[in-house]
Amino acid sequence: MSVAIAIDGPSGAGKSTVGHALSLRINARFVDTGLMYRALTFAALARRVDLDDGGALGVLAITCTIEVERPGPGMADRLETVLLDGRDVTLEVRAPAVERAVSAVSRHVEVRRAMLGVQRASAAGDDVVMVGRDIGSVVLPDATLKVYLTAAAEVRAARRADEMGLPDRVGAYLEEIRERDAADSGRDVAPLRIPAGALVLDTGELGVAACVTVIVARLEVIGA
Ligand code: DC
Repeated sequence: MSVAIAIDGPSGAGKSTVGHALSLRINARFVDTGLMYRALTFAALARRVDLDDGGALGVLAITCTIEVERPGPGMADRLETVLLDGRDVTLEVRAPAVERAVSAVSRHVEVRRAMLGVQRASAAGDDVVMVGRDIGSVVLPDATLKVYLTAAAEVRAARRADEMGLPDRVGAYLEEIRERDAADSGRDVAPLRIPAGALVLDTGELGVAACVTVIVARLEVIGA
């Protein structure tokens, strides 16, 4: 039986850092589903698809090919590579235009339905650590272990300002994070929720390394 670990939580909680470190520790594949929504948003902006048109975005999600894979040697600027129709768009999907539009794209039921198939297919077979907003609740409801990572909005904003090397922007980041939290938690389809039975960890209090240690210990307890 393969092991599937679902990690959910709000923007900037450290899901990718913890999830990636965990995947290396337990030798599992790492899949960041946020990158998939970002790649679709990049495609929608490039093709000028109306972001309010769920039907058109759903068709786009079905007709384009989105793949995530382990980065090649020497690619230190990423934890994963995302390909859109075979083209590496890993850096483009972090652009501010994508950042602003991704919540609008990911709220549509047609989009989520299409992405569900892509995400389940990428989890099939191997041991996997998958991160996102609805992994434990919708994508992998039978996951071996569900984890919900969180941190205070202020902690997440300070982290982002630090990562970007822009300490003066901490107030703006805090506002963006609060808006994103409201959009991700308030949408009708697959909203961000703590899945039943999830291990809830605060990365602001514990730090990344301790979160990984706690998750590995829990896996040992459940015999996975
Ligand atoms: O984790 P991230 O910031 O890269 O995610 C980008 C956006 O994608 C975020 O606004 C929420 C959305 N998302 C989602 O709705 N469901 C997921 N499983 C993953 C991300």
